Formats: sequence, structure tokens, C-alpha cells
Amino acid sequence: MTTTLFRPYDDSRDKDAVHRIWRETGWLTDEITEVMDAQIRCSRAEVAQIDGEAECLVLTIPGTIRYLDSDLPLECVTAVTTSRIARKQKLAARLTAQAIAADVADGAIVSALGMFEQGYYDRLGFGTGGYVHWYGFDPADLRVPGATRVPRRLEPQDFQLVHANRLSRRRGHGSCTLTPAGFTHADMLGGRTKGRFGLGFCDGPGGRLSHHLWMRVAGDVGQGPYEVAWMAFKTREQFLELMGLIKNLSDQVRAVFVRESHGIQLQDLVSKPFRRRRQDAALREWGDRAGVAAYWQARICDVGRCLDKTVLRGGDEVRFNLVLSDPIDQFLPADGPWRGVAGEYVVTLGGSSGAQPGSDDALPILTASVNAFSRMWLGVRPATALNFTDDLSGPPELLEALDSLLRLPDPQPDWDF
Ligand SMILES: CC(C)(COP(=O)(O)OP(=O)(O)OC[C@H]1O[C@@H](n2cnc3c(N)ncnc32)[C@H](O)[C@@H]1OP(=O)(O)O)[C@@H](O)C(=O)NCCC(=O)NCCS
Repeated sequence: MTTTLFRPYDDSRDKDAVHRIWRETGWLTDEITEVMDAQIRCSRAEVAQIDGEAECLVLTIPGTIRYLDSDLPLECVTAVTTSRIARKQKLAARLTAQAIAADVADGAIVSALGMFEQGYYDRLGFGTGGYVHWYGFDPADLRVPGATRVPRRLEPQDFQLVHANRLSRRRGHGSCTLTPAGFTHADMLGGRTKGRFGLGFCDGPGGRLSHHLWMRVAGDVGQGPYEVAWMAFKTREQFLELMGLIKNLSDQVRAVFVRESHGIQLQDLVSKPFRRRRQDAALREWGDRAGVAAYWQARICDVGRCLDKTVLRGGDEVRFNLVLSDPIDQFLPADGPWRGVAGEYVVTLGGSSGAQPGSDDALPILTASVNAFSRMWLGVRPATALNFTDDLSGPPELLEALDSLLRLPDPQPDWDF
């Protein structure tokens, strides 16, 4: 009979076993063992052990998520992996749920992750985030001047500078930061792609890095395509200078993909985008890799604290009873300190928002899963649309009032995790 134990990762004991897990999932090749080790060092790492060997590994990292003007404590699930012998034992779901519960005990009120497929993390209460746009273009077609200054070359050993610049970048609603610099270091070391480099400028106080971009070679080093893994900038001039750096690659590189951040429509900066795509077979082929996908998910982990930080201006206050379900409890111990956020709340949304446990007979009822409620609260989709496609229902007048009030900017994490 096998015995299973959930416990924190122990470097002296589990290192080989967790390397084996990532080899079996195809996430690890020998050359990038250091990337995995760097990621573990800056994470909460939990393992499920079977007969003395770690067979499932979950990593989480603290950070923040911006809700309008407030930064809320976030925890990000950055890796969920089960070895070949331990699949379909509910180890990953239970271990992830327990790691989230531990992060909630440490103060996180929202959780987020990048999903491998829709559905799996729905069972833990996660709702799908908004679409992320990746825009692909030939850098020669950029309608910006090339950068005239010589940038600094950025290497993995510059990770502290790079990380600090990422933390202080221009941010918008839904934008995330991951606090430990080690996460940026691991990403710069390689992750699961080869060929990466950074370019930036040091106009900050004391010569600190003020704006930069970090690129990955997604195709051929010579011709591209290249992907901009991230950009950090604050001002229009800094943004255009970084775009100018991309333009400077155009004598050689034929396609670059950039993730649009916070309201910026990159097509504005490209001349004749449709003609070019019709003419250039390679760009058309690469261009198909661009597009939209909603590959991140998030969930509320503390309804009261999230709503306390919710300041909605420009609409009438809305009050209602919230009957909230949360599927995560099925994966948590019955006697655990946190078993999700299911329950009944009296909710106020407006200039001053809040949620108290209980109900008020005078108010209409909104019934929702935490998955769908989190999406509505973040502004991923309006209440009336979630009523069509997700688990959220209430009287039409209530849904319409929520639509009017929750007119939020498109939430974009702008940080892959
Ligand atoms: C994904 C992974 C971690 C799951 O590990 P696991 O320990 O087998 O997972 P669990 O036992 O907790 O869950 C398996 C269940 O999830 C279900 N499931 C899987 N994908 C699903 C989906 N998209 N929607 C709904 N349910 C899904 C399975 O059908 C299975 O259900 P069953 O037990 O009723 O048959 C594992 O397959 C793995 O390591 N994959 C490679 C790495 C990876 O992609 N990790 C995810 C990174 S975001």
C-alpha cells in the first residue's frame, strides 16, 4: 500500500526527484537545470510525496495585482507538475489548493496563474481572464524613428536592475508584479526557450535602468521571429525609443511579436499592415502565430478584503445579496483554516464597497461561482454576458446595474507567469 504525504519542498532531499518530475513533463533539459533551481529558490515550493519520493511539485510566488488605483496582495501559481507514475491521483489539484491556502494565510487575497488548458483550474475556483493580444509585424514597417542612442546590453547577471525596472513600469488595471527578483532571473536564464537578450537605457536616478525590453528568439536568430517577452517603460518617449530599438533590427529580422500593454494598439505604429501581410508569405505564416488568447486565470481568495479595496466612481451604488459557491473546498482538508470563499454575503459596490457575511431580505440576489464573480469583479466580462456563458445569475435589473457600474479597463497582467 502506498503512502502519500503533502509537505514543503526540502532541497537536500527532493532536488533529484523534482528534476525527474520536470524531465518527465518535458519542462527540463539538463542544460537548464539551473533555471528550475533558480525558480524554486524564490518560490513557495510544495511537494506531494509517494513512498518517500516527491512525485508532484507546485510552486507559488507572491506579488501584486493592480485593481484600478490599488495594488492588492497576489499569489501566483507558477508551476503545477506531476510525475508519470502519479497522474490522476488528484495530487496536483490537492497540492495546488493547499499551496493557495498557505499563501492566503500569508496575506494573499487574489490568486492568478497561466493555464495549460481551460477547465483544469476551474475546479479550484479560477475564472478565465481577458484576451491577451500578441501583435506581429515586420520591424521595417514600424512608423517610428529608429533609436539613435546606443542601448546597454542586458545579461542575466543584470537581473536585479531589470527586475526593479519591471516593478516600477507603467501599469494599468489588472497588471501584476511578482515580487522576488529571482523570478525575473530564472526567466532571463532561459525558461523553456533558447536565445534571449535584453536592451535598455539607464536614464534613472544614479544611472539606474529606466526602460528596457527583453527579447526571446522564437525562430531563427538571423531572421526571427523574435518575441518581446516584456517591456518596461513609463513615458511615451521611453516607449517610442524601445520601439525604435526594435526597428533597428529590421535589416536582419523580418518579424517581431509584441504583447500589447494597457490600451496601446500596436497596429497604429505599422504602415500598411494588410498589404504587407498579403505580399509576404513568411510574415503571413508567422503572423498566424500572433492573435488573441485568454491564457491566464484569476480568483478572489478573500471577498471582504477585495471589495474593501474596490473604489468604483461614476455609477450608482449597487447593493445585493451574493450567494457564492467555491469548488476549491473539495481539494482541501476538512479541518483546514481556509476552505475557499463560499457563503452568503451582503455586498455593496460603489465609491465605498464592501461585503459582510449574511443576507438582507430587502435586496436582490446574485448567485455565482467564485470563478464567474471574480471575472465580473476584475472587469473581464460584464455581468449580463457572464450570465450567458458562465455561472452567474440574478434579476435582469441587477445585472444591468452591475454592467453600468463595473465599466473597468480591460484587465491585463502584462507579466507572464
Ligand atoms: C496537469 C497535471 C499537473 C495534472 O496532474 P495530476 O496530478 O494528474 O492532476 P489531478 O489528478 O489533480 O487531476 C486530473 C483530473 O483533471 C482532469 N482534467 C485535466 N484537464 C482538464 C480540463 N482541461 N478540464 C477539466 N478537467 C481536466 C482530468 O480529467 C482528471 O480527472 P479525473 O481524475 O476525474 O480523470 C499533469 O498532467 C502534468 O504535470 N502535466 C504536464 C505539466 C503541465 O502542463 N502542468 C500545468 C501547468 S499550468
